[in-house]
Amino acid sequence: MLWSLLLVLSANLIVFWAIATDAAAGRILVGHVVTFASAAVSTSMIAFGGLSWALDGAAAPAGAVIRLQDAMAPAGSITRGERAATNLPSREIRFRNVSFAYPAGGDRVLSGFDLTIPAGTSLAIVGQNGAGQTTLAKLLCRLYDPDEGAIEIDGVDLREIDIDAWRERVTAVFQDFTKFELALRDNVSPAGAPDDAIKQALVQAGAANLASLHTILARGYQNGTDLSGGQWQRIALARALCAVKLGAGVVMLDEPTAQLDVRGESEIFDRILTATDHATTILISHRFSTVRHADRICVLEHGRVIELGTHDELMAVGGRYRCGYQKPRKRRKG
Ligand SMILES: Nc1ncnc2c1ncn2[C@@H]1O[C@H](COP(=O)(O)OP(=O)(O)O)[C@@H](O)[C@H]1O
Ligand SMILES: [Mg+2]
Repeated sequence: MLWSLLLVLSANLIVFWAIATDAAAGRILVGHVVTFASAAVSTSMIAFGGLSWALDGAAAPAGAVIRLQDAMAPAGSITRGERAATNLPSREIRFRNVSFAYPAGGDRVLSGFDLTIPAGTSLAIVGQNGAGQTTLAKLLCRLYDPDEGAIEIDGVDLREIDIDAWRERVTAVFQDFTKFELALRDNVSPAGAPDDAIKQALVQAGAANLASLHTILARGYQNGTDLSGGQWQRIALARALCAVKLGAGVVMLDEPTAQLDVRGESEIFDRILTATDHATTILISHRFSTVRHADRICVLEHGRVIELGTHDELMAVGGRYRCGYQKPRKRRKG
């Protein structure tokens, strides 16, 4: 910007200086001075006009970024914490008496919520839409903090743990996971990983042979390719599995398989449980019939745990889980 301004300014100085010296020395007539001067003024107006027009376009993104900063402010107000997250959780994740309402307003989603997840086990959270499952996932990723109570990792309040270090420990796949218009390799590991880890993650997610690692996953690029919804879901799962290989200790899947049918979702969940048996795994689904292989199943209703136990235990209880589990089967028979 400075160089363009200097260029236009010095060109003006040279032209007007030349006209002025010629006029002073009597080399040109007054009529010529007027003609040359007005031509120079018009030209420089075009130059300055062009510059301000270009600046206007260049300034628009700056305005957008400033507005974005405002929009991001609530996230920025989250405390960053200082404690290291190495090997967390080694004992348990505990939601202790957590109450939470979204800052935008509305009713409390969670009220006095209590749940313990032993480290290294798998937990499925099932419930109707709106029960608060995604809210639990968001709190665990620290997109929000509880209004009351705390999430404790091995007894330490999550707010005291370094937020970036914690997020490196957690790998989460949400329903609206990101599809990068980048190479398959970068979609599986945006931060980079050895090819072996990427290939293994793809095999575990049932996404082997979809494309070569350097194929760009968008039609618009040379040799680029596009994937079906189900194939993209497998890529997102491979991303989580690859993160586990790189050291993540908590895996959270929030209905990334909602587009698949019941059998497809069961298959994916079973694959994930096999590949992450040393990690703490949280599977979220509104289908009761896909999570039977999780170590424990928690049925959520209106932000409360109404049933908690293994598949066999909950089937024996004969309550909400058993009812929800058997429904799809009955429908299929009919
Ligand atoms: N960003 C938000 N702002 C306000 N309310 C929200 C927001 N996200 C979800 N809610 C509300 O919180 C409740 C629980 O939502 P959620 O945890 O997403 O449910 P689900 O169990 O289907 O994942 C719902 O009543 C929903 O309308
Ligand atoms: Mg949800």
